[in-house]
Amino acid sequence: MPKVTLNTLASRKAAGEKFTCLTAYDATVAHLLDEQGVEVLLVGDSLGMVMQGKDSTVHVSMDDIEYHTRCVSRGVKDTMIMSDMPFMSASTEEKALENATRLMQAGAEIVKIEGDRWLLPAVKTMAERGIPVCVHLGLLPQLVSILGGYKVQGRDVEQATAMIQLAKEMEQAGAVMLLLECVPSDLARELTQTVSIPVIGIGAGKDTDAQVLVTQDMLNLTPGRKAKFVRNFMEGASSVQDAVGRFVSAVKSGEYPAPEHSY
Ligand code: KIV
Repeated sequence: MPKVTLNTLASRKAAGEKFTCLTAYDATVAHLLDEQGVEVLLVGDSLGMVMQGKDSTVHVSMDDIEYHTRCVSRGVKDTMIMSDMPFMSASTEEKALENATRLMQAGAEIVKIEGDRWLLPAVKTMAERGIPVCVHLGLLPQLVSILGGYKVQGRDVEQATAMIQLAKEMEQAGAVMLLLECVPSDLARELTQTVSIPVIGIGAGKDTDAQVLVTQDMLNLTPGRKAKFVRNFMEGASSVQDAVGRFVSAVKSGEYPAPEHSY
């Protein structure tokens, strides 16, 4: 696979070709995912649960994401690295700029930020200064206390309309990508068609431009109950490499996510 850039992802959207994203927190897994042709690796704040055994992403620090971004960057060749801005790391424009700079210098090529309306100025400031930003909409795990749990977002018309409006404003502010978590498939389809930037989905149905999963979830390593949108790609696979290859093929062919993984 040639080096993945923002242009690669924009061309995929324009051509109607799906791309893939999986989480990575270390060099070994990053290398494996890169070899299997995963276009984007997410150094997600899910590392709080997956790597650190914590009960939410709220406890993850800038030092944590910076450290794991450095680890991942040593394992990849062609894949694009996207790193999460952790809880409150963008609570002011100055903090957003300073913290995003730390992640870019650690090896990130794009930063992801869980965004509500108040983040528009920070997105604009980062974009104007050359930091590529992906805005995470829908279910925002960092705000789980306010949302009252990990629930599907945008179910009523008012919420859905507001989310599409916010997506448009984030694009206008300079966001180069969106990530949509746990929203009804119809809303995800409409939002993906409305914006011209690529949209990655998780629990958002089959019509987003790309799909992301936590790698440990799709390899069936995560203990406990799985979210509805998770498929166990180890089932029938001969190795971890084979399971990741099956995820890539299933996303590209449109076979995953199926209706049973969607809301
Ligand atoms: O932190 C993470 O892994 C994420 C994904 C669930 C999209 O944000």
